[in-house]
Amino acid sequence: MKTIRLGDEAPDFTAQTTMGEINFHQWLGESWGVLFSHPADYTPVCTTELGETAKLHSEFEKRNVKVMAVSVDGMESHRGWIHDINETQHTEVNFPLIADEDRKVATLYDMIHPNADDKMTVRSVFVIGPDKKVKLTLTYPASTGRNFAEILRVIDSLQLTAYHKVATPVNWEQGDECVILPSITDEVAATEFPKGFKEIKPYLRMTPQPNL
Ligand code: BEZ
Repeated sequence: MKTIRLGDEAPDFTAQTTMGEINFHQWLGESWGVLFSHPADYTPVCTTELGETAKLHSEFEKRNVKVMAVSVDGMESHRGWIHDINETQHTEVNFPLIADEDRKVATLYDMIHPNADDKMTVRSVFVIGPDKKVKLTLTYPASTGRNFAEILRVIDSLQLTAYHKVATPVNWEQGDECVILPSITDEVAATEFPKGFKEIKPYLRMTPQPNL
């Protein structure tokens, strides 16, 4: 197991999931991916997180993102728990959940942090690009449920900045102004950003979101 850093290739694996055996890279295909771990089945925070992920299915689909969850419990446990999630969160879990009993995926992605808990996975999130490279990592403790609106927001930024010479400023959301990359000269910016840009400082130039 090695620490996974931004820009690394996302480790590939074949795993048993609630939607059958899946080879991760093949399953991702040309899509973006989110792989995220949970401490355990039948736990309250995880129940809300998986329910919310299911409800956001169309938001992920709109962004060409496939979602897969990991927990170190077995298939039978997963199936019973998914029944509970569907019932209590008023949704239908519509993405694969890995039954990672041998901790193969958890180990590959360093999702068990022994100083936090030596058995359960922490709440890890990996966003993976169509090139299979890791674009974002997040690590939350078991006690703190994630904000999936933030995960969608960050995917919007990752996808925008992958294709345009901009970065997104503090608290950016779809439709907000972007900053022009410092490596872009004013001359190049003038052609690259036909909607124009304003220079607040030579290193701080704002332009309307270029893909709208
Ligand atoms: C939960 O998902 O609710 C949870 C799991 C482990 C520890 C604390 C909370």
